[in-house]
Amino acid sequence: MKILILNGPNLNMLGQREPEIYGTQTLGDIETLCRETASIHHADIDFRQSNHEGELVTWIQEALGHVDGIIINAGAYTHTSVALHDALKLHACPIIEVHLSDPETREEFRHLSYISPLAQEVIKGIGAAGYPQAIEIIVKTS
Ligand code: DQA
Repeated sequence: MKILILNGPNLNMLGQREPEIYGTQTLGDIETLCRETASIHHADIDFRQSNHEGELVTWIQEALGHVDGIIINAGAYTHTSVALHDALKLHACPIIEVHLSDPETREEFRHLSYISPLAQEVIKGIGAAGYPQAIEIIVKTS
């Protein structure tokens, strides 16, 4: 089983970025957590981050036919990107949307998600723990 885990803009700054909202774990820590969970389930993960919308779109396209599930924290592109929505729509595999914070309890501009209509589940507001939870959902449903 192969799972693509995508992280959008500014998530490379976790640890330094608004720790009162996002916690103190770095993206490297989250990757380690994901690798530990994936290895328990004998799953293979491809963990990536980009600050560039087009690069994320390309990675989603390239994954077509090669992955059994996609976990995506699109960061701010969650609330703006029709391009990510369209790319994800190519996939028939389960898509899980993850957010460290709960965007719906924050500023109004974070309330709309272009990812949610395509997501089998949205995991939000539980910090880094949302990532291993998302892996477990994909493992159970695939
Ligand atoms: C985020 C929430 C988004 O609104 C924000 O732009 C992020 C991080 C989260 O994980 O809580 O970059 O996706």
